Amino acid sequence: MSDNDQQLRVSKIRNGTVIDHIAGGQALNVLAILGIDGTSGDSVSVAMNMPSDRLGHKDVVKVEGRELSQDEVDVLSLIAPAATINIIRDYDVVEKRRVERPSVVEGVLECPNHNCITTEDEPVDSRFAVGDDGVRCEYCDTIIRDDLPAHILAE
Ligand code: CTP
Ligand code: ZN
Repeated sequence: MSDNDQQLRVSKIRNGTVIDHIAGGQALNVLAILGIDGTSGDSVSVAMNMPSDRLGHKDVVKVEGRELSQDEVDVLSLIAPAATINIIRDYDVVEKRRVERPSVVEGVLECPNHNCITTEDEPVDSRFAVGDDGVRCEYCDTIIRDDLPAHILAE
C-alpha cells in the first residue's frame, strides 16, 4: 500500500463544495446549520477529527453536486470561523473562500425566549444580529452568548 492509499480517507469529489478546516467535532453542527440532512439525495461525506497542522484536529464536509453560495456559508462563521470553502468543478478547486461574519443571520437559530413571536406558530423567521459577544434576537432582544449549536433550528 502506498502512502497515498494510507492517507486517502475520504474520496475527492467531482463537482460540488468542500468545507475544510472545520474545528474538530463541529461537522454535524455544520450540516445542521446548513440544513443538509441527506433528504435532497446529494452525496455528502463527513470526516471527523482528521489530523491538521493548523488546527490539531479538523473536520471536513464534502457536498457533491452543490455549489454553496457565500451567503449560505457565512452562517458557518458562528461555529466554524476558520472554515475554508472550496468550490470543485471537474475535480479541480476552482475557487477557495473563507467564511465571513454576517451582520444578521435569518432562519437558522431558534430564539430561546418562548414568548418571542418567532417561536410562536406565526410565519415569522428568526433574525439575529451578530455582535462581538453573541447574537441578539431582533424581535425580543434576547442574547445567545454560548453554545450556539444548541439553538440551531431543525428544518
Ligand atoms: N478536494 C476534494 N475533491 C477534489 C479536490 C479537492 O475533496 N476534487 C478537497 C481536498 O481533499 C482538500 C480540499 O478539497 O480537503 C482543498 O483542496 P486543495 O486546495 O487541493 O488542498 P490544500 O492545498 O491542502 O488546501 P488548503 O491550502 O486550503 O489547506
Ligand atoms: Zn426572540
